[in-house]
Amino acid sequence: MEPDSEKPGAVVAVVTELRFTQRYKDYLEKQQLLDRRYRVEKMPDGTVALPVRGETPLEQHLWALKNHVAPGSPCKLMQLLRPAPSKKAQCCSPAQRLCLEVSRWLEGRGVQWSAELEADLPRSWQRHGNLLLLSEDCFQAKQWKNLEPELWEIVASALGAQRLARRGRVSPDGTRTPAVTLLLGAHGWVEHVDNGIRYRFDVTRCMFSFGNITEKLRVASLPCAGEVLVDLYAGIGYFALPFLVHAGAAFVHACEWNPHAVEALRANLEINGVADRCQIHFGDNRKLKLSNIADRVNLGLIPSSEEGWLVACRVLRQDAGGILHIHQNVESFPGKNLQPSGSSDMEEEQWPYLQQIITNQGKNGTGRDSRRKMLAGATKPEWQRWAESAETRIAALLQQIHGKPWKTQILHIHPVKSYAPHVDHIVLDLECRPCPLIG
Ligand SMILES: C[S@@+](CC[C@H](N)C(=O)[O-])C[C@H]1O[C@@H](n2cnc3c(N)ncnc32)[C@H](O)[C@@H]1O
Repeated sequence: MEPDSEKPGAVVAVVTELRFTQRYKDYLEKQQLLDRRYRVEKMPDGTVALPVRGETPLEQHLWALKNHVAPGSPCKLMQLLRPAPSKKAQCCSPAQRLCLEVSRWLEGRGVQWSAELEADLPRSWQRHGNLLLLSEDCFQAKQWKNLEPELWEIVASALGAQRLARRGRVSPDGTRTPAVTLLLGAHGWVEHVDNGIRYRFDVTRCMFSFGNITEKLRVASLPCAGEVLVDLYAGIGYFALPFLVHAGAAFVHACEWNPHAVEALRANLEINGVADRCQIHFGDNRKLKLSNIADRVNLGLIPSSEEGWLVACRVLRQDAGGILHIHQNVESFPGKNLQPSGSSDMEEEQWPYLQQIITNQGKNGTGRDSRRKMLAGATKPEWQRWAESAETRIAALLQQIHGKPWKTQILHIHPVKSYAPHVDHIVLDLECRPCPLIG
C-alpha cells in the first residue's frame, strides 16, 4: 500500500483491537508517527484506527507493534477516506489547517515543503456557499502546476469547500467582469441571501462585492413608495432588488450590458417575485431610449459613473425632478486637512458615526458655505469637494437638457467602503428639482 493517502483528503491509519489501543498510541506518539490532526476512530467492527503520518515507511513499525509493543495483536494499515479532525486541529485557523494539509500531502509525494511554497498559499478568500473564491496572488510558484488537479481537492477539503475558483483582476473594460478561473467543480453558480433577498450569479462571470452591503441596506430603507427608478448599472440586481423588495419602488428600469449579469438579473427578479415590476434594458445605457420618467436614478459604477450623468439627467422627470445616487471612488490624502482630526485612516466600522444628512439648506436661505461647514464635520474634505463639483456639473447638464434652470442640493454623502489605501467608495445623494417658473 502507498504510504500516503491515494485519495485526496484521505489518511493512513494503523488498525488494531480496542484493548491494544493505548499501547499502540504510546508507541506511535513516541515515534512521532501519530497524526494528531485527526481523531483516533472506532470502526464499525469494533477495531480502532489510529491515523499516522504516512510519509515514513511503516513496515518496521508494524512489525514492532505486533511483536514487541503488544505481542500477538492484530495490526494492519487502512485508509480513512474521511478522517475526522481532532479537537486540536479544529482549534487552528483555516489558513493553518490549509498549510498543514497541503504540506503533509506534498511531503507524501516526495515534494520538499519550503517557506516559498508556504508564502504562496492563499491568505484570504471569499466563501460563496460551498465555493471558495481564492485571491489572485496565490499558487503562483511553478511547482504547483504538476500537482493539479488533486491539489485543488486538497485545498478545498482543508477549507471545507467543494468547489474552488481563483480571482484575477476585475477587467477594466466597463463590464467589471472578474477574470475568475474555476479550479474545481462543474460550474460557478452560487446563491447569497442578503437582507432577505436572494442573489444568484456565476462567480466566474459576474462581480459581487461584499463591501457594498451597507449601501444595499441603506437603499432598502429609502422611502421610495410609488416611485419609478432607473438603475443605470444594474449588474445582477444588487441595488434594483432592494429598491423593489424593501424600498417599495413601483417600477425599475434596469440597464445592463453584460449578458451574463443580465441572465443572473432575470433569474433574481424571478426568484424574488418582482419580475413584473422591472424592465431590463440590455445594452449600453448611453443609448437608452427613455426620458422624463424617473423619480430616482441609481448610478452604481466605480471608479466613476460620470459617463452616465447625461442619461441620468435626461431620464429624470421634467415636471418634478428627483434624486440621483451617484457612486464614485474618491482619493484623499492622509495628514492633509482632514476632518474630523486624526481620521485619515478611517476604518469602515467608524463610518456610521461620520454620516450626516444635510437637509434643505437652500430653503432656509443658507448657501454653499454653511452647507460646507455642516458637511465638514461629517466627511473628508476631498469628498465634499468632489460632491460640489459633481453638483455643479449636474446642474449645468440639467439646464442644458431640459432648457430651464434646476435647483440641486447635496442631501447626503455616504461612505460605502474603503476601496484601496486612501481611496473611498462613496455615494452622493443629489436632489434635483426644476425651478418653478416665475410669473
Ligand atoms: C459595479 S457593477 C455592478 C454594480 C452594482 N451596482 C454594485 O456596486 O455592486 C457595474 C455594472 O454596470 C455594468 N455597466 C457598466 N457600464 C455600462 C454601460 N455603459 N451600460 C450598461 N451597463 C454598464 C457592468 O456590466 C456591471 O455589471
